[in-house]
Amino acid sequence: MSKEQVSIDDIIERYPGKPESLIFLLQDIQSAYNYVSPTAMNLVCDHVGIPLTQAYAVATFYKSFSLEPKGEHEIRVCLGTACHLKGGERIAEGLERDLDVERGRTTKDQKFTLETVNCLGACAMAPVVMIDEDYIGGATQGSVRKYLKKFQ
Ligand code: FES
Repeated sequence: MSKEQVSIDDIIERYPGKPESLIFLLQDIQSAYNYVSPTAMNLVCDHVGIPLTQAYAVATFYKSFSLEPKGEHEIRVCLGTACHLKGGERIAEGLERDLDVERGRTTKDQKFTLETVNCLGACAMAPVVMIDEDYIGGATQGSVRKYLKKFQ
């Protein structure tokens, strides 16, 4: 039995085997592993007694669940109207080139996940890039690159 499976089993034991436990289980697994693996999904479905397709429908509906492994650091480039007008797209393209990763994906070394979002709620600081919990306002390719240097 893999280490991951043992720990997922521990999480599963916290909740009764009922369909109502699904969201709680997915939340706990997401926060422990940063994503919900196919193995975890199978174990959860067996436990709560719902079909896999239904669990995937729930997991894809809620943006907070990831079905792919995430990188150590999450980069979110805002492409909402205000940020788009001020060059958000150029920043996203620059990051794709610099990190050699497409948006929505994680770098091969699992260090960064690059996402684009529709608004980070900080339009006055456009263009905005969020790295983990930090906002970079008035972002440029250069300022984002400089920020990322500390992780490399
Ligand atoms: S449009 Fe980018 S923060 Fe609102």
